[in-house]
Amino acid sequence: MGWQELYDTASSIVADHKGILAADESTGTIKKRFDTIGVESTEETRRAYRNLLFTTEGMEDYVGGVILYDETIRQAADDGTPFAELLAGKGVVPGIKVDTGAHDMAGFPGEKVTEGLDGLRGRLEEYVELGARFAKWRAVITIGDGIPTDACLHANAHALARYAALCQEAGIVPIVEPEVLMDGGHTVETCDDVTGRTLRAVFAELYAQDIHLRGTLLKPNMVIAGQDATAESPPDQVARLTVHSFLRHVPALVPGIVFLSGGQSEVEATENLNAINQVGGPWPLSFSYGRALQASALQAWRGDAANVETAQAAFLHRARMNALATAGQWSAELEEAVPA
Ligand code: 13P
Repeated sequence: MGWQELYDTASSIVADHKGILAADESTGTIKKRFDTIGVESTEETRRAYRNLLFTTEGMEDYVGGVILYDETIRQAADDGTPFAELLAGKGVVPGIKVDTGAHDMAGFPGEKVTEGLDGLRGRLEEYVELGARFAKWRAVITIGDGIPTDACLHANAHALARYAALCQEAGIVPIVEPEVLMDGGHTVETCDDVTGRTLRAVFAELYAQDIHLRGTLLKPNMVIAGQDATAESPPDQVARLTVHSFLRHVPALVPGIVFLSGGQSEVEATENLNAINQVGGPWPLSFSYGRALQASALQAWRGDAANVETAQAAFLHRARMNALATAGQWSAELEEAVPA
C-alpha cells in the first residue's frame, strides 16, 4: 500500500466535519463504565452495547471512524454482520487499539510507559485481515511534582514512533496519541508547558524514525487546567492556548488533529472543540471522544433493550453536536434539543 492511500484514509476520517468514536475501551475499562449503570460486563453485554452504538442510524453523517478493541473487532452485530464490515458498509473506517496499556516505568516513580510493541507486526497483519484501516496507541503523561521527566517523554515518544512505523508498513494509519492527563490541580499554564514538551518529543521521534506525517493522525489533549485546579479554563482560553501550541509544534501537513475528551463533560468537550475551531488552524481540528460521546447514551441504555432507541438518540445528538463544533457552529441553545 502506498503513502497516498494512507493519506486518503486519514483525511477521509476527518472529512466533512466528521470525527472519531473511541469505542475501544479495554475489558477492564468498559467494566468500570458498566459499573456506573449497574450492568454486568460480559462478552454479550459488551457486544450488545457496541451493537447499539454502531447501528445508530445517521451516525455516519458525523462519525468518520470508530476505534475498536480486540474483542470487538471479532464480534458481530445482531444480524450476524461483523462489526468492521457493518461500519465499512456505512462508509465509517474501522480502527483498532493496538497498545497493551500503560505500565509503571521502571526507575521513574509516578510515570508510565505504554507497552505493546512485541509481536505488533504480526498482530497488525491480522487486524488488516479483520478490516482495520487505522490504529491507536495511547501514551500517558502525568503532571506532578518533578514530572513528567524528559526520560518518560522520550521513552513514550520512541514507542509511539516505533508503533507508527509498523502501522505504516502494514498499510494502516497510526493515530499517535500522547495524552497529557487532566488528573491533578495543575494550572493551564503548566498543561501548556507539558503539552509543548510532549509534542516536541513526539515529533522529534517521528522525524527520527522517518514516519510519513501525511499518513498519520494526531490525537492530543487540549491545553486545559487540571481537574482539581482552583481556576477553571474558559473555552476561549483553552482554544487560544491549544491552537497556539499546535501551531508551534505540529507540521501543517498532518491531515488531522483529533482531540480526546480526557474526562471533560460532554458539553464541555463540545464547547471547547467549538471554541478551538473558531480560532482555527491549518489542519482539520476534530474529535476522537470516548466518554464525551458515550456518557448520555450509557446512562439512557442501562442494559435494557427497551432503552436502545433513546440511547441511540442520545449518541446521535452528541455526535451531531461535535460535528457542528468542528465547524465552529455549535451553540448552547442547540443542546436544548437533547432527546429525552
Ligand atoms: P476519552 O475521550 O474518554 O478521553 O477517550 C478517548 C480515548 O480513546 C483515550 O485513549
